[in-house]
Amino acid sequence: MTSATAISAESLVKTFGANRALDGVELSARKGRVLGLLGPNGAGKTTAVRILTTLLRPDSGSASVAGHDVLTEPNAVRRSIGLSGQYAAVDENLTGRENLYMVGRLYGMNRPDARKRAGELLDGFQLGEAGDRIAKGYSGGMRRRLDLAGALVARPPVVMLDEPTTGLDPRGRMDTWRLIAELVDDGTTVLLTTQYLEEADALADTIAVIDHGRVIANGTSNELKALVGGERLELVVDEAAEMDTAAEVLAGIGTGTPRVDTQSRRLQVAVNDGSKSLVEAVRWLGESGIEVHDVGLHRPTLDDAFLSLTGKPTEVSGNGATAGAAGSEGLATAESGERGGRQ
Ligand SMILES: Nc1ncnc2c1ncn2[C@@H]1O[C@H](COP(=O)(O)OP(=O)(O)O)[C@@H](O)[C@H]1O
Ligand SMILES: [Mg+2]
Repeated sequence: MTSATAISAESLVKTFGANRALDGVELSARKGRVLGLLGPNGAGKTTAVRILTTLLRPDSGSASVAGHDVLTEPNAVRRSIGLSGQYAAVDENLTGRENLYMVGRLYGMNRPDARKRAGELLDGFQLGEAGDRIAKGYSGGMRRRLDLAGALVARPPVVMLDEPTTGLDPRGRMDTWRLIAELVDDGTTVLLTTQYLEEADALADTIAVIDHGRVIANGTSNELKALVGGERLELVVDEAAEMDTAAEVLAGIGTGTPRVDTQSRRLQVAVNDGSKSLVEAVRWLGESGIEVHDVGLHRPTLDDAFLSLTGKPTEVSGNGATAGAAGSEGLATAESGERGGRQ
């Protein structure tokens, strides 16, 4: 790890009984950047965060945060981080202001400093007016914001946010995104876990896709999208009986095997030469007497990448029923991505 690295993890393994929650996880985040840890429910995100925040010991492997080893220098790690957990850690019987003041005192601030910092954060998180009310009456979004503010009291260089927007309404989610972006502008390193692709896409400089305790892909949003290949040609046929023929035609035009969704009668294939392939597909299908609609080209989204990598669409609560088939070391190739994504 270099001095430009703020978070790193090597070969982290953690088992709970027979369940391998982490199965050799590697992570790396550069200082001042956002690392997105993206994966479905049960993937191992919270377990990784708990190890990186010294709340849990790995069975094997190593990790360091802000230059300190989580196993041998846990106190130094704790001093360097702010944590906002998946379930907001707010004392319901205190006001918002008292909650933040208390955190400041816990971090060793003197009374005036702790009071001043609480006020700043309440204002910054749009809690100024609610600050003197008991937190019990706060909405879910307000609790989340208060919890996030609590993670920032001591101005830690590294902040870990475990699913910061889960359960928030769209407005609360946008507010949180803005706050995270501001943090990063100030030079903070952020580890963010999420189940939402658009969140990783919007906030993270690099994304580690995690599934079944393994990092199955790693890279920028654009690199992950590139895993599924270039543009995709997509169309819907009128009749279910025409799908096999249409798939054959597309196989001749595209690169790789067409993806066929029998329910919606939608077919999709990766193509090299977008518009030329489009014209060709329409002509060939016309000559075969197949009528198509909704025909078009689209650039791969992070959703396509996720589907290709894990073999399942996003926002499915993964119960381990479908195993990811893609390569598990670093960047999977487009080819292995295709294998994983075939339906
Ligand atoms: N304290 C625990 N005891 C037993 N199993 C656990 C514990 N914490 C997590 N697990 C299991 O480890 C796996 C990963 O969980 P978790 O890290 O919470 O995933 P995520 O945060 O991505 O939803 C899951 O199968 C979960 O049931
Ligand atoms: Mg979790």
